[in-house]
Amino acid sequence: MPDTLQNIASEIVVCRLCKLSEGRKNAVPGEGDEHARLMIIGEAPGKYEDLQGRPFVGMSGKFLNKCLETVGISRQDAFVTNAVKCRPPSNRKPLEQEIAACRPYLISQIAAIKPKLLLTLGTSACNALGIKYTHLSDVRGKIIDMALGATKVRCFVTFHPSFPMRFPSKREAFLKDLSNVKNLMTTLQ
Ligand code: URA
Repeated sequence: MPDTLQNIASEIVVCRLCKLSEGRKNAVPGEGDEHARLMIIGEAPGKYEDLQGRPFVGMSGKFLNKCLETVGISRQDAFVTNAVKCRPPSNRKPLEQEIAACRPYLISQIAAIKPKLLLTLGTSACNALGIKYTHLSDVRGKIIDMALGATKVRCFVTFHPSFPMRFPSKREAFLKDLSNVKNLMTTLQ
């Protein structure tokens, strides 16, 4: 029997499995519908996420919300979380061992929600799920089926929103990916 989202969150907020816990103001377990059909996985909390204990509330979150809205995906219908639940110092990328320490929480959240689709944003989310690539472009825009223990999942890989936010030439591709996710969600039962 999978653990409940609430139980998982209460473990995350007291977690001391890696050094990121030492610098946090708040852990950021994630938020959204426990029966969400779509689960969105980012990289790590930033400054504002750490302050509020909520995922994607800073600049890249606002950009992500706008892009989701543009293609007709409601963030309210998704569960949103990150590969690691505590903010890395100076917003550096989470280390392999930090992702590994946090992985059981992510896997438990997936097992509890049983989403139809995981939308992985960027390399850290792919690494957390064991998606293999040399460059993100090898897997970006692709659907990847996998089993995480007893849970079968389907992933769609795209950029982390900070990339198209920073490089406007990448926005069309990012929106196209999100639009494909929207269409995919209508076909997945
Ligand atoms: N905010 C998050 O919650 N996750 C990210 O990956 C970036 C910003």
